[in-house]
Amino acid sequence: MDDYLNIALPKGRLGEDVYSLFASCGYECDGVMDDSRRLVFENPERQVRYFWVKPWDVGVYVERGAADIGVAGKDTIIETAPDVFEIGDLRLGRCRMACAAPDGFTDDGGTVLRVATKYPNIARSYYSSMGREIDIVKLSGSIEIAPLLGLTDVIVDIVETGRTLRENGLSVTDVISDISARLIVNRASYRFRGEQIRELAGKLSSRISEEAERR
Ligand code: PRP
Repeated sequence: MDDYLNIALPKGRLGEDVYSLFASCGYECDGVMDDSRRLVFENPERQVRYFWVKPWDVGVYVERGAADIGVAGKDTIIETAPDVFEIGDLRLGRCRMACAAPDGFTDDGGTVLRVATKYPNIARSYYSSMGREIDIVKLSGSIEIAPLLGLTDVIVDIVETGRTLRENGLSVTDVISDISARLIVNRASYRFRGEQIRELAGKLSSRISEEAERR
């Protein structure tokens, strides 16, 4: 392999914000933000290579060493538990993992609670810590519709502005955790390329603090 630092970016708006942050720290790379179908981009001077991958797959690329580092939402990190180091909070893509139910719903604990979610592990672990028996219905998206159609009683999902819940007659019943984009690192890369990685992480962290002060 070459000496390039391989970085997996989550495709989508979060990934674009993440790339802008990296670029503002001197890790820019031509073409990354172009409207094209290319997925791999290199800056030979900076020795950096970016890949666009599906947000849920970032952990896999980093765990297996196809990428040295990556940026993944804390939601996908908790749910898929990749064997990587998490070394920074980029404070982007901030939202909450929450339980929500139709307005006015109360769980009387009488029957098995039906829960729709994209995050079965997070939901299972949350309800198990409450000692509540549940039946998980795993969905791929539009989770909020499940209680409206009587498919489930409640949902466990990401809440950002709260608008999707509001517009579908649901409200948060409990917050499970705060979520944001995290910098994750392959364990071997951290051993062998620690200096390069710490330099990048340090620059990102300074830039994030500057941004926070400016606000
Ligand atoms: C996410 C999440 C909620 C929505 C929350 O969905 O699953 O549905 O955003 O955002 P809000 O609180 O600002 O309304 P996403 O847009 O990823 O689509 P999905 O339904 O396919 O999961």
